[in-house]
Amino acid sequence: MSTNALFAPFALKSLQLKNRIVMAPMTRSFSPNGVPGPDVAAYYRRRAEGQVGLILSEGTVVERPASSNDPNIPHFYGEQALAGWQHVIDEVHAGGGKMGPQLWHMGVMSENGSGWKPSEAFEGPSGLLKPGQATGKVMTENDITDTIAAFGRAAADAKRLGFDCLELHGAHGYLIDQFFWAGLNQRTDSYGGDELTARSRIAVELVEEVRRQVGEDFVISLRLSQWKQQDYDVKLAHSPQEMEAWLRPLADAGVDIFHCSQRRFWEPEFENEGSDLNFAGWVKKLTGKTTITVGSVGLSGEFLAGFAGEASEPRSLDELLRRLDRNEFDLVAVGRQLIVDPNWVEKIQQGRSDEMKGYSREALSTLV
Ligand SMILES: Cc1cc2nc3c(=O)[nH]c(=O)nc-3n(C[C@H](O)[C@H](O)[C@H](O)COP(=O)(O)O)c2cc1C
Repeated sequence: MSTNALFAPFALKSLQLKNRIVMAPMTRSFSPNGVPGPDVAAYYRRRAEGQVGLILSEGTVVERPASSNDPNIPHFYGEQALAGWQHVIDEVHAGGGKMGPQLWHMGVMSENGSGWKPSEAFEGPSGLLKPGQATGKVMTENDITDTIAAFGRAAADAKRLGFDCLELHGAHGYLIDQFFWAGLNQRTDSYGGDELTARSRIAVELVEEVRRQVGEDFVISLRLSQWKQQDYDVKLAHSPQEMEAWLRPLADAGVDIFHCSQRRFWEPEFENEGSDLNFAGWVKKLTGKTTITVGSVGLSGEFLAGFAGEASEPRSLDELLRRLDRNEFDLVAVGRQLIVDPNWVEKIQQGRSDEMKGYSREALSTLV
């Protein structure tokens, strides 16, 4: 099939992209003490030179004592880390690319196994890592207010450093998603409740604060997933009606792009609706907003099995192109293919399918 649809330019507010391919945010843990160095900048520049339309950074944490479980995950606060990010965005621009940082707070997480611990306890809506498993502390209203302010400062810094947009990590069972998920949010104050819209309050306030900091013209993406790393079968919204009720307030608060994380992009979101639309497809239909799809593009297996050691082979893009051609979504994020190959986009554009690489987790040990 023709790949032309992938190479149509895209514009939204101040963001102008040469094609529809987004580098998915991927934690690499190559930033000692939270500071991204020249090797990280060079890694992103190679993707810019490789014609990636928009690069989303690996998750980079906001200024809270326990926003991270890994000292090698980059910070998006503090003079040294921000100087590192200044170099990253300058290199990406010099390579002809566009980039936004993915701003992150992990919430209640496991320790990463290295023996390193944050200075304070992990924090979340109800201190739960999994339903019924309390390993962190319950956030007070002050903690929530301070967290919102920390995201706001990071957003202002992203704009000041010259990034082209930003993304908020609201997916995969991390802090914002812990608030969405009834299994982990058992609060009885106004940040919890039986309705998903009530549990979305922190996300709405966060988006509003970020919007206040960056102004109207700067693009804000919000990454969401129905599934959680703690439980792949959880769904926040069980019907299009529930999904619309969840997302409308977030769109009204200022989200421009919903980045709809699936493990396999071809899976229909709702089984009883007589439609094969995926998550990004439904979100675009229900909100009218720009959406990004993601999940096993160009690869045979999904990424969490990849962490567990399953290798993936290159896979045809035909199903993706069929969906893009019918405007199911606007943009396509690619993860592991861009870890193994900075030139993946050019190879797709030039039809060099025999040069496509597979993925195995050994690829994570170096910054190619
Ligand atoms: C090594 C690795 C690190 C990841 N880190 C993040 C992250 O920091 N933030 C995030 O939202 N998703 C993260 N993800 C998920 C990816 O963004 C993407 O959704 C997933 O890999 C599926 O895309 P793929 O099948 O093309 O790899 C990570 C994935 C991988 C493989």
